[in-house]
Amino acid sequence: YPYYSKFDAHELIKIARALVNPRGKGIYATDEAPYAMDDLLASLDEDPKLNKTRSEEDKRERRKKWRVCMYSAAPTDYISGVILHDETLRDFKLAEILSEKGIIPGVRANLELTPIPRSEDEFIVQGLDDLLSKMQAARAEGARFSKWRAPIACSSVEGGFPSRISLETQAETLAQFAAISQQAGLVPIVEPDVDFSRDADLTRSAEIHEQAIAMIYERMRAHGVLLEGSLIKPSFPQPGLRHPSRSNVTPEEIAVATATVLSRAVPAAVPGILFLSGGLPSSQATQWLAAINALVLASPPTSPFTRLPPLTFSYGRALQGEPMKHWVKGDEEAAKAALVKWSKACWHAARGEVL
Ligand code: 13P
Repeated sequence: YPYYSKFDAHELIKIARALVNPRGKGIYATDEAPYAMDDLLASLDEDPKLNKTRSEEDKRERRKKWRVCMYSAAPTDYISGVILHDETLRDFKLAEILSEKGIIPGVRANLELTPIPRSEDEFIVQGLDDLLSKMQAARAEGARFSKWRAPIACSSVEGGFPSRISLETQAETLAQFAAISQQAGLVPIVEPDVDFSRDADLTRSAEIHEQAIAMIYERMRAHGVLLEGSLIKPSFPQPGLRHPSRSNVTPEEIAVATATVLSRAVPAAVPGILFLSGGLPSSQATQWLAAINALVLASPPTSPFTRLPPLTFSYGRALQGEPMKHWVKGDEEAAKAALVKWSKACWHAARGEVL
């Protein structure tokens, strides 16, 4: 591994593998920005005016209490790692709750979005400046992996999304993030998040996923990223919300499209694939994950699908949607139980077991 004299390549590989093994284990994503976390919690308040009366200090305390509740409940049997926001890691210092019970803490590396000047409905992701020192600081606080989310617009061919410049920008940015993250001793998770709000059909969505992922690995190679010590967090190829086939697409169709894209575009050296839930209902995110694993595990040895690494979850909303509803009403125990319930359901799904 020519570029890894400083940080032991084997350490990166060990962490990357531990995040996706034994099969079934996956990541709980809790890296919402503080304002986004406040909005999420406030959206569930019984009285919508209540949030206006909260001071910044009250909101901060509320975020912290929510995180502590979820981290203390996160089940080690099903959850391998948790992605933290910088505030939770370096300000609240909550990584230890997780690492003490054997869950690997990670950090969100990307900052906010800014429109691409020549294509204003698409975005550049900020955060490369000072990234090395920030990742080193995160490592010192206990983080062992990092993730960077790159949104990719997607429409029918006529709609014109994504633009070439946005695909190039995201691929280059993700590759730079991955290289810098490894330099700081953190396993990078590259997250191409292909949007499904427009009018692409499944074929078009799959095509864009394949193109985006292939471009990311081309740039990762150019930057000398240690693929064996990195992971990918893609979206599921799917028909857009504004395409008529959205309402009747089956989990099996999603599974075939997803396995095809990934077996073509993700190099065999990458030790794991973790899906994002992207706002899908928890039951659908779980069903799709189960369908793709069932497909891969039932494929004959001659199928390229059998060469795919473990396919698991790195879900945010799909894991904590139900817990949050209980927590906002003050029922901590029900919130904790719901997190365990959904973590277990995802664990079964990542083993191809449809319950
Ligand atoms: P969702 O599963 O809610 O999409 O969150 C995953 C994530 O990390 C988004 O960046």
